[in-house]
Amino acid sequence: MYRNLLATLSASMSRSHASRELKWMRESLCTEFNGTLTPESVKTLEDMVSRRARGEPLQYILGSQPFGPLDLIVRPPTLIPRPETEDWTIRLAGEISPTKASPITMLDLCTGSGCIPLLLNYLWPSGSNHAICVDVSQDALNLAHENAVRCGISVEFANEGSPTSTKSASILLLLDDVLRSNFPERLANLGEPSFDLITANPPYIPLAEYVNLNSTVKMYEDHRALLGDPNHTCHGEGLSFYRAFATQVRRYDLLKDCGMIVLEVGENQSDEVQRLMLNDAKMQRTAVWRDPWGKERVVVAWKSTG
Ligand SMILES: C[S@@+](CC[C@H](N)C(=O)[O-])C[C@H]1O[C@@H](n2cnc3c(N)ncnc32)[C@H](O)[C@@H]1O
Repeated sequence: MYRNLLATLSASMSRSHASRELKWMRESLCTEFNGTLTPESVKTLEDMVSRRARGEPLQYILGSQPFGPLDLIVRPPTLIPRPETEDWTIRLAGEISPTKASPITMLDLCTGSGCIPLLLNYLWPSGSNHAICVDVSQDALNLAHENAVRCGISVEFANEGSPTSTKSASILLLLDDVLRSNFPERLANLGEPSFDLITANPPYIPLAEYVNLNSTVKMYEDHRALLGDPNHTCHGEGLSFYRAFATQVRRYDLLKDCGMIVLEVGENQSDEVQRLMLNDAKMQRTAVWRDPWGKERVVVAWKSTG
């Protein structure tokens, strides 16, 4: 049986890679079926292999993805957290040292699985931070909620109409469209008009690049998580989110005086995003962080001159 399954997988990847993936699938099943391979688990393994052979991302098949020390649930259509995001989130955790005595408030835009605020919350001392996490997708927020519970982090949904105390849970999940120009009024209504830290890994892929993406990414991951210009505006550079955000930061004074903004960016976007942060958002300073593969991956901006 294994030889057949390995042959099926090897049709779309190298034999050594197929062998590793088959091992991970078996291991995940052994956990699920208490270490024994039953006829039922063999059937499940066959299903997993045929899903993979059809191009489904391995993480969706295994159902989870490590993110730092966390093991997060992943499922379509919410974006699978990427290693470059994991890398800068761990770096960020070391750049700021919130304490229970002087806790920080954080805003995570485009939160998806919740990976960024959950990892920061996990790495920082208990009671030292709380976050409002926003996404336009209810699927994503439901997943972020499940992930917070899995990680033992207190979490609530912000309900339309009923007042929610933003401090009653470490993570508050808010369904909204951050491209709406007056979106920050929702934050003010929640009693959190400004933040010590704002993070975002927004959709940033230009349309011309999106159409050439691997079809499995486009088939399984929400296009709203990837496509930078949902309304085909901004000359197709993938920068709609950063432009809207820069204007909102300034107009609504979203960042506290000693605050910091951390934005993941795509290829060749860091110069323009730095310009937006300095000119439109009126930040005083910016820096660029590279990812482990040497690509300019994150724009950091500060309101104070340091
Ligand atoms: C690139 S994914 C990032 C997810 C997660 N933060 C991560 O790093 O894996 C972008 C997320 O932004 C959300 N999104 C897209 N457009 C949005 C909008 N206009 N308002 C709020 N969220 C949006 C998508 O649903 C998706 O979950």
